[in-house]
Amino acid sequence: MRFTAVAVVATSVLAVSAHESQAFFAVPALTQIRDILAQFEAPIVSTLVQRFALPVKPQLYQGHNPPLQAYLGAREIDAILHGRYNYGTLEYPFTFSTIAADRATSQNTFPAGRFHQDSFVGNPNLMAFYIQTLVPSMNSSTTPYFYHLSNSTQQTVPDPNREDGALSLDVTLLQLLSNRAHVGKIVAEAKFTGDPVTYTKLIKARNADSIRMLLANTTQEASVLAQADTAAIQLSNAWIASGALVPSTFQDTIRTVAMKTFRNLIDITTEIEVQYLLERLH
Ligand SMILES: *[C@@H]1O[C@H](CO)[C@@H](O)[C@H](O)[C@H]1NC(C)=O
Ligand SMILES: *[C@@H]1O[C@H](CO)[C@@H](O)[C@H](O)[C@H]1NC(C)=O
Ligand SMILES: *[C@@H]1O[C@H](CO)[C@@H](O)[C@H](O)[C@H]1NC(C)=O
Repeated sequence: MRFTAVAVVATSVLAVSAHESQAFFAVPALTQIRDILAQFEAPIVSTLVQRFALPVKPQLYQGHNPPLQAYLGAREIDAILHGRYNYGTLEYPFTFSTIAADRATSQNTFPAGRFHQDSFVGNPNLMAFYIQTLVPSMNSSTTPYFYHLSNSTQQTVPDPNREDGALSLDVTLLQLLSNRAHVGKIVAEAKFTGDPVTYTKLIKARNADSIRMLLANTTQEASVLAQADTAAIQLSNAWIASGALVPSTFQDTIRTVAMKTFRNLIDITTEIEVQYLLERLH
């Protein structure tokens, strides 16, 4: 399965909105960012549960220009018009490629604690994870478990490649994951603020490996994974308790998938943090 080259049609729109709404944003303290990140977990797991209750149709995700890409592209054009990717939202599109990065100037020397926009976007990594890992594990049923009365996989009219229920949940999930991962930019800024001398030395040496090691906090990672597991248990229990006709493996599947998702999210977020810092002294 391949998810190929992104469309660039509205690149100029994005660049314009980035410059026009330029503002200075102070990043929150790291403890507050961690509390915010914890609030992302239930919505992500809840959307996973909903998506896994619908069947997967492989053709939505395959080929040169899969239906998911077309669907996402249309949604993102609308999202641009509604300001979703404006400067400082920590939201980035999947199907448009260019982000206008800030350059340090005499007015904005990138002081510690102030957000600046860098050029790195983690969405290609997220999309690869989604297509290669998550989609293949959505295989436990050919019929919807609960909230669609019809068997959507068997519908051929009007077009089997238009599956709004599934694609809409795919997009919601991708956007939640993406926003969660790009909060890494302000995590990085907050960590830099905590020790500018050490980070500056490593950035000047372009030492990505040591920056990655300095950023890592295995205690924090373990707590993120534990919270994701708790959410997976609670939300799949609630789903089962309300009478969803799920297979007996449903909860195990959701827990496994939630673990994989958050493990991957941590790695993608760390890469976003590293790249943000490497561009800090431009
Ligand atoms: C579903 O996917 C999982 C993970 O990719 C795999 O272990 C399992 O065997 C698959 N089950 C079916 C019925 O294909
Ligand atoms: C949906 O599919 C299941 C199993 O394939 C079948 O038992 C059921 O009758 C179908 N329902 C409808 C509404 O077609
Ligand atoms: C790692 O994260 C935990 C919170 O999960 C925090 O209490 C601790 O201070 C952090 N350690 C470092 C070195 O930042």
